[in-house]
Amino acid sequence: MTELLGSTWLNYLVAIVLLIISILVFIKVHIYSHWKRRGIIQANASPPWGSIKNFVLGRTSIAEVFAEIYKQGEGHPIIGFYSFLSPALVIREPDYMKRILVRDYDHFSDRGIYSNRKIDPLSYHLFSTDGPHHKEMRYMLSTDTRKPLSLDEIAAQTFLFILGGHETSSAAICFLLYEMALNPDIQARLHEEIDTMDGNINYDNIKEMEYLNMVFNETLRKYPAAPTLIRLCVKDYMLPNGFLIKKGTQVMVPVYGLHWDAKYFPQPDKFDPERFSPKAPTHQIQPFTFLPFGEGPRYCIGKRFGVASVKLGVTSILSKFRIELAENTKIPMKIESKTFITNPYKGLTLKLVARNT
Ligand code: HEM
Repeated sequence: MTELLGSTWLNYLVAIVLLIISILVFIKVHIYSHWKRRGIIQANASPPWGSIKNFVLGRTSIAEVFAEIYKQGEGHPIIGFYSFLSPALVIREPDYMKRILVRDYDHFSDRGIYSNRKIDPLSYHLFSTDGPHHKEMRYMLSTDTRKPLSLDEIAAQTFLFILGGHETSSAAICFLLYEMALNPDIQARLHEEIDTMDGNINYDNIKEMEYLNMVFNETLRKYPAAPTLIRLCVKDYMLPNGFLIKKGTQVMVPVYGLHWDAKYFPQPDKFDPERFSPKAPTHQIQPFTFLPFGEGPRYCIGKRFGVASVKLGVTSILSKFRIELAENTKIPMKIESKTFITNPYKGLTLKLVARNT
């Protein structure tokens, strides 16, 4: 009897193992050949994570995962990848980005990410809503129309503004100060500019601080808060190369990959604010290669507020302190792998030295 039970369990076990192997083989051979069959290059994929395994397993940041997919597509305008079992696309050609984000926006008006008005009203905010509701909400928030918002709508937008607005701006301040500690010459020049303002820094005159703007842009070039922009194709769309993006396909614009591509930003690991000099830029920035706030009708609605708060935060710190590396400052900086917003891994330690000492 025991022998019989033992062999039955063994048979079950063998059947389950064979089933799992067959599913994995099916995914690998059939699902993960979707883009090859559609005639385009595709990123490496392994079941069941697809091409984002290293992010799912917490090994690398989402920024690096998409930068790697971007690299694998070198020489091609688009590259296919797999998010678990779903085929999706990474766009590499800046002209295509212009079409997707701006010109042919009506084909890519949605993000297609989770939101549920009924059971999870806080998730129903401007970033995650789509279709006509997004359009209406964006209009209401941008123009101060008199149509009142419901309590749930106010709560959801506030939740997003605090989460998305605070996280992005505070990360930008951290990264900027970190680069100041690494580059004392750049910090000295920024101190000089701040000192010329004689403590009179406010929302209006901060725009005149040219060098601060260059340093700010270079910070977001190296450390874009959103490493990739997301769009969902809502109407079939033919790219100029004749490739048809079918309705329902998720499309990514790999901001981090672009910002670190030596073709667009020579020596990308070098912190060089001169790239953004309005007088003598070290090189011309090609349109749609610098996208820290996104582009088109879904670009960051909090851009002006974000820019002002980062700049005001930085100037109030730098007017009083010099930033230096601390003993335990990690060099090079590692990017946190568990968040979608670019953040320093396990925080950041810097030394603030009062400037009058
Ligand atoms: C340095 C600060 C910030 C950065 C780098 C940043 C970056 C971004 C990026 C890249 C997007 C996606 C754009 C796209 O898909 O084309 C976005 C969207 C958004 N951001 Fe920001 N952001 C910042 C600050 C803020 C602040 C302060 C707020 C609100 C107070 C905010 C609210 C939003 C909202 C609501 C969206 C979604 C817009 C829509 O889908 O219509 N952001 N942001």
